[in-house]
This record gives sequence, C-alpha cells and structure tokens, in this order.
Amino acid sequence: MTDTTDWPDWFAEGFKHVWLPYTQMETTPPPVPVTATNGVHITLANGRQLIDGVSSWWTACHGYNHPHIREAVSEQLATMPHIMFGGLAHEPALSLAQRLSLLLPGDLNRVFFSESGSVSVEIAMKMALQYWINGGEKQRRKFIGFEYAYHGDTIGAMSVCDPEEGMHALFSGLLPEQHIVPLPRNDAEFVRFETFLGEHAESCAAIIIEPLIQGAGGMKMHTPDTLARIHQAAKHHDLLLIADEIMTGFGRTGTLFASEQADIAPDIVTLSKALTGGTMALAATVATDNIFDAFQSDDPEAALMHGPTYMASPLACAAAHASLDLFEQEPRLNQVSAIEQHLLRALEPCRDMTGVVDVRVKGAIGIVQLKNFSEHNQFKARFIEKGVWIRPFGDVVYLMPPFIIEEAELSFLTTALRDVVGDWSVRR
Ligand SMILES: Cc1ncc(COP(=O)(O)O)c(C=O)c1O
Repeated sequence: MTDTTDWPDWFAEGFKHVWLPYTQMETTPPPVPVTATNGVHITLANGRQLIDGVSSWWTACHGYNHPHIREAVSEQLATMPHIMFGGLAHEPALSLAQRLSLLLPGDLNRVFFSESGSVSVEIAMKMALQYWINGGEKQRRKFIGFEYAYHGDTIGAMSVCDPEEGMHALFSGLLPEQHIVPLPRNDAEFVRFETFLGEHAESCAAIIIEPLIQGAGGMKMHTPDTLARIHQAAKHHDLLLIADEIMTGFGRTGTLFASEQADIAPDIVTLSKALTGGTMALAATVATDNIFDAFQSDDPEAALMHGPTYMASPLACAAAHASLDLFEQEPRLNQVSAIEQHLLRALEPCRDMTGVVDVRVKGAIGIVQLKNFSEHNQFKARFIEKGVWIRPFGDVVYLMPPFIIEEAELSFLTTALRDVVGDWSVRR
C-alpha cells in the first residue's frame, strides 16, 4: 500500500518520527498500516484482511486476540499490572517459574525472567561465564556458536550469530570474538568438530545452539540425532550447552520444546516469542540446579548481577499462564502435526521450479529457499495483493502460521506462496 491516499492521518504524521527495524528507510516502501487482528487475520487500515503466514515474528501460536489470554490479562490489569521484582515477589511469576520448570526436560529448575529474546540470551551467556568464574575457571571466556545461527541483536547475542548471515556482518571484528564453526551433520564433520573441541574447549564456557532449526540466520535444519550428538560432545568436553528455544519453543517444531526430540536436557534454555502466545513481551532464561548452585555463596560477588526493570511483569506472566493453559486444553500439537502434513504436500511442487534451491518442512514451519533472490519488496507487495501476509528474508520465503489456522486458510497461504514463487521462477 504505497499509494498515500490510503494512509490514515495517524500514519502520515507519525511515520515521520519512527525508525523501523531491519529497514533501509530511504529505499524500502513504507510499512502497511494495520488497525486490528483476530484469529489468523490482520485487518489493514484500508479495510482489507490478510491471512497471516508469519504469526507476528513467530509469536501468535494461538492466533490473535484469543479470549482466554485476553481475559487473563484483563483480570491481571485490574489487580496489579506491574510491580518491581527486586525485593518483592508475586504469584503470577512464581507459579509460572514452577510451571515452566515442570514442562522443561531434566532439572532445568531455575527461571530468570526478562523482556526479550536477545536479553535472555545475554543472561544465558552471563550465567555460563559466571558459572565457570565462580568455580575458579576464569579462563573459560569464549562461546562456541554455529554458522547460520541467529541469537538476537544485542552485542553479546550478536557475537554468537553467524557473522555473515546473522544480519550483523557490519560489526564483525568489533564484537567479542567467539568461535563460530560449521554445524556438524555427518561422521566426518563430527570428527572435525570433536578435534576442534579438543583444542579449544578449555577456554570456552558453552556451546549455544538453536535446536533442530536455525531461524533468522537462514532457516537451516538439523536432525534430532545431530542435536543429541552435539549435546554429547559438549558433555564429553565439559562444556555447558545453551539451547536457544526462542523460536522453537512452544510447539513450533512438533513437540513443546525442540530439545525433547533429541531427548536431551540442556544446561540453560532461553524462551520468549510464543511464551505469552504473542501478546506481551516476556522472556525466560532457565538454568539447571547445578548452574544455580554455583551462584550460592556467602560472597555477594558470586551472585548473578542482572535485573531488567520490567522483568517478570505480572501482566506478561498472566498472558504466559493463559497461553500454557491453551496448550493443555486445546489440541495444539495435533494442529502442528496437521500443518506439517499440509506444508509437506503443498510446498513440495516448488522443488521442481527453476531457481528453487530447497524445500524444507518441520512442524509448523515451511521454507522455500531461492537462488539469487533479491525481490523481497516485490514479493511482499504481491502477497498483499493476494490477501496474505508473508515476509521473505535473505534467500527464503517461509510460512510459520498460527497453529489454529484452518485447512482452507492454510491452502490460501500455500497457494499464494506457490503462485508468487512460480511466477518469479518462470521470469528468471
Ligand atoms: C532463536 C532466536 N534467538 C533470539 C532471538 C531474539 O529475540 P528478540 O527479537 O525477542 O530479541 C530470536 C528472534 O528472532 C530468535 O529467533
């Protein structure tokens, strides 16, 4: 909608004052004004409705405006919207911490709340470093991350992203230097990985990985067996394993957490995005008893010195509880499995199109990877014309719809994707 006659007043005036994410504002068409959401629908200011294929950056797993979450948040709003978490405690946060601990594998029993995925990764990294410092191993200062990884936009999180693919190439050389290595997938690669760990593990605190699928760094997948082997290698070399489940957590890959499919219990897990069902900013860094115990001491300096102002916001915790209720009460994982079957069927024809490099599906994630792709803005405009919200990035066009999407709505999304990729393909 670049036709400015469509712009409401609030948009025309306010747009001069905002700075947009990941956008060269000089050349990119302005964003699309929206006024409402409901279920899988986004209502635009011009009255049109789009079916959402992105779930608002992978958060809105129950669709938008779910009445159960709305009620829980309204109730909390009336009693205590926010209260500081330093020196005071409240039921929504403590019971949520307990609930998350019970859901996560192993003895991941200590939850540290924050307000964004990137910050939860910073906290995980800080926990891992200080775990070793408190244990007298101050030389363990680096992290091992993987090519194509994405863990967030803050400085520490950026340092463990793929320096080229993770949207932070500009800063390479200025960030803390970590080891970013190829993610091993076969025996020969594991031999190289083990050799690398043999040489470097003693100066490292942890391996950080997005389990089963690397998201914003390129949507690359690996098998549960690969994840299990990486976990095993971490244990063998006495390294902590941080599982960044910010994208994968809460059903997206077919199980509540992706780590479950490899039957592993990481040392630290980061959660955010779908934690509140896409309604409110909340994140959690969850550590094992062993990690937590390393911070218990009569030395005040051994404590974790971190405390975001809005951590454990009661409103966000209420939303998270309501979201977890929905996972218990409604057949979310079955819905993910049905979406997976549909995506497998519907995206497969793209594989034969000229310029399509790969088609990958896992849970409620469908990816079509393209060769020499640069028409992101044209694709977005075509998708809007077709009545869907699909936002390609890098070399991928992907779908991550809300889990409550109906079969016909999902067909609408996959048809639009096939048509737009198909048109692009024949024009090449
Ligand atoms: C795996 C992963 N980690 C971390 C982040 C950063 O989360 P946030 O955008 O909430 O800071 C993201 C966001 O896309 C992510 O996918």
